[in-house]
Amino acid sequence: MNSPDSRFKTIIEPFRIKAVEPIRFTTRDERQRALEDAGYNLFALHSDDVLIDLLTDSGTGAMSSAQWAGMMRGDESYAGSPSFYRFESAVKGITGFEHVLPTHQGRAAERILCSVALKPGDIVPNNTHFDTTRANVEAVGATALDLPVPEARDTGSLAPFKGNMDVEALRRLLAERRESVPLVMLTVTNNSGGGQPVSMANVRAVSAVCREHGVPLFIDCCRYAENAYLVKTREPGYEDKSPREIATEMFSYADGATMSAKKDGMGNIGGFLALNDDALAQAARNQLILTEGFPTYGGLAGYDLEALAVGFEEALHEDYLRYRIRSVEYLGERLLAADVPIVRPTGGHAVYIDAKALLPAVPQTEYPAWALSCVLYLEGGVRSVEIGSVMFGRQPDGTEKPAPLELVRLAFPRRTYTQSHVDYLAEVIAYVGSIRERVRGVRIVSAPPVLRHFTARFEPAHGSLLT
Ligand SMILES: Cc1ncc(COP(=O)(O)O)c(C=O)c1O
Repeated sequence: MNSPDSRFKTIIEPFRIKAVEPIRFTTRDERQRALEDAGYNLFALHSDDVLIDLLTDSGTGAMSSAQWAGMMRGDESYAGSPSFYRFESAVKGITGFEHVLPTHQGRAAERILCSVALKPGDIVPNNTHFDTTRANVEAVGATALDLPVPEARDTGSLAPFKGNMDVEALRRLLAERRESVPLVMLTVTNNSGGGQPVSMANVRAVSAVCREHGVPLFIDCCRYAENAYLVKTREPGYEDKSPREIATEMFSYADGATMSAKKDGMGNIGGFLALNDDALAQAARNQLILTEGFPTYGGLAGYDLEALAVGFEEALHEDYLRYRIRSVEYLGERLLAADVPIVRPTGGHAVYIDAKALLPAVPQTEYPAWALSCVLYLEGGVRSVEIGSVMFGRQPDGTEKPAPLELVRLAFPRRTYTQSHVDYLAEVIAYVGSIRERVRGVRIVSAPPVLRHFTARFEPAHGSLLT
């Protein structure tokens, strides 16, 4: 990988564009109608009514010409396809794990791991469980325990590795309850904790505690390449190592990994479970056959396996990672300059606006982050996602409890938007920041009992979103 010419500061997209997909401009009136039709729920919008779609970075990225070329090589044999062996070799080359089981996405790898490794009453610690990981742990009657470091909860703290696990808390847990902990997980980067990275020192320390107690460590490695780059740029001693060397060192401290390849696999679909333990791998393969498919395709087409085999390597290209992480950081800087509060420092895949700080006059009972995400769509055609009291406020007993944070997440699809898209985003969000006093809250009209953010319908709590 060449380093950029230090005489020139502008970071350009490290690709040129071979195929384009038009995006559709809408008027503000059209977006007002689309919002009303969608019951003020951005999940219910038709995506061609969205100008810039930052709902998620999962499976939404652009593939490279090498990936598309790889897809033409896809061999659709039911068993023993060379496409599988190329996929397996790419995963083994980066992770070093002995057994590689392809799955249709990350949650399938989690489900299989949980079904073979956990039993009711077990405890699985993690820095912060992603929703699907938590749900899969809980589905087998085990407890998903989050052990983030304290600074993870402070949105203003500039600590470089707010994704770390609290090692002392893990040590105490294993000293007291070792027999209830069949495995420990570490999510890199920590998505539910703001996309914040985990340091190599933390991975090493967590691994040492696990090994002391004979507990296997599994990495939820959806964003392993972004984490590697953030280690390179933030952790002393790693500045001269390549993202690939850093990723490989990280995996060497673990016993297995689950992955959604819709992130740093650079694919639109896919995932894997990788591990060293022969007996556990055999049990997992049996589960894989039951629900996903034969072990050499695991629910994926041969062409998907080819695209991912290329994607795992491309995600580690330093030019790409520099552009990606810098784009996120640049948007963060523009928002701070416009006095729009965000979670700091920016992490790997998203910028999180702190809606509680931006809209102090909107009470949490009127869902400020939800209202803000609607206003961003109304004013600029930008789709984001609320991570606040709509997502987390409803308790299992039906009562309502405000979430600790009211965030709007702007997740960047990979290799999809350019610098001018980011400049446009900065302008739209700064404009909404400038009219913050006019933003009003929303109320729920109807909602399902669980996971309500996907399908609930809303209306402005005071007649309209803006006064
Ligand atoms: C950290 C993390 N783990 C697991 C998953 C689940 O992956 P998938 O959506 O492919 O099932 C995600 C998806 O967003 C994630 O961010």
